[in-house]
Amino acid sequence: MNKIRNIKGTKDLLPDTTFIWQELEEKIHHFNQQFGYKEIRTPAFEESDLFKRSVGSETDIVNKEMYSWIDQGGNNLTLKPELTAPVTRAYIQHELGKSNPINKLYYIDALFRRERPQKGRQRQFHQFGVEVFGSKFPEQDAEIIIMAFTFLQSLGLDDISLEINTIGSKSIRGAYITILQDLLNKYRQDFSAIDKQRLDKNPLRLFDSKDLKCREIVNETAPTIYDYISKEDRLHFDNVCSILNDSGIQYTHNQKLVRGLDYYTRTTFEIKSSSLGSQDALCGGGRYDELVEQLGGTSTPAVGFAAGIERIIMTLENQIQRSHKSIDIFMILISSDALSPGMNLANNIRNKCNLSVITETLRRSMRSQMREANRLNANYSIIIGEDEIKSNTAIIKNMQNGEQINMDMDKIINYFIKG
Ligand code: HAM
Repeated sequence: MNKIRNIKGTKDLLPDTTFIWQELEEKIHHFNQQFGYKEIRTPAFEESDLFKRSVGSETDIVNKEMYSWIDQGGNNLTLKPELTAPVTRAYIQHELGKSNPINKLYYIDALFRRERPQKGRQRQFHQFGVEVFGSKFPEQDAEIIIMAFTFLQSLGLDDISLEINTIGSKSIRGAYITILQDLLNKYRQDFSAIDKQRLDKNPLRLFDSKDLKCREIVNETAPTIYDYISKEDRLHFDNVCSILNDSGIQYTHNQKLVRGLDYYTRTTFEIKSSSLGSQDALCGGGRYDELVEQLGGTSTPAVGFAAGIERIIMTLENQIQRSHKSIDIFMILISSDALSPGMNLANNIRNKCNLSVITETLRRSMRSQMREANRLNANYSIIIGEDEIKSNTAIIKNMQNGEQINMDMDKIINYFIKG
């Protein structure tokens, strides 16, 4: 019979890898708590309109990459391709802004984009990120940029670089877009059908076109948006830069960094790793002051970022020690009469002594069970056979020095409590 395989662009995380994820997730929780950010979790799917109205209908994500379907009730649904929109939807729906003037939120989650799979690019991938609602001030932009950068540094990544830019408020965009259209219309015949559509509807998206020729034309011809932003936008950006300068974080100002999602206003930034190859973006984010209102809430400034967990783990791969964590006790059970008392004892030790105990469930020989205890790096084994059952005892073996003692069953818990 044919074996069923996982879907292209998805990955199974096997036990020799999941421990890396667990450690990273613990660090993310701890780090965010240090900054006073609280976790938010949103459903795996949303109404498709949420992404069309936020990420934007001319973006690659909405245009080509969403997993969308009509369910049995006729609802148009989408597996979430990103989290800024769902978190903003939840912020508005639960009126989080009413109980608190500032909401500092973070998440760790799985996302879905139907991109062409390659190293560092999957169709199901994971992000951790933050979204802050309430502050319009540059120190909030700087806080999250510093967070993203120092978190990646704290993991030992030293080949990372930060690029920042500002794309100004949406109010200035009209004039800039007309100029772009006038200039780029000359090259219309060189653009793909999708880029022609972008040229007409949202030429800013041409900066992150996947078509190399288009990107080259845009980069060589188009003026940067930085030349068109307002005095206030510039001041905001200068203030973000000034805080970053004081914090000692190195960055470059990349005037072409517009990012591939429509909701951004003012600050945009990306952190890249030189060890990643072509998919080198570890983290991206920016300000999106108009999104809350655009999705039906009361106007609230907001800023956030998201980092790809698979890509972080890829860059860490060389440093990861695949050491076996030890377990406390392996329970060796040699007669069928020992199974039930052995499992009970194991449970009592777990509950009362807070130790890890693995019990034998393969009915192997004494020798192979002892070999298994060694393989698992157990600190102790507890051996229960026919003789022990008769005398209501168990043998406790210290696996480090080989010492064995025979002990009454009812004294074992105390023995391990005392350590
Ligand atoms: P994004 O740039 O689309 O931004 O994604 C952020 C990060 O997710 C990327 O830098 C990359 O590390 C990772 N990533 C994206 N697509 C894939 C993929 N197919 N496979 C593996 N990793 C991937 C956003 O999603 C915005 N919501 C970020 C944000 C939050 N802006 C404001 N708040």
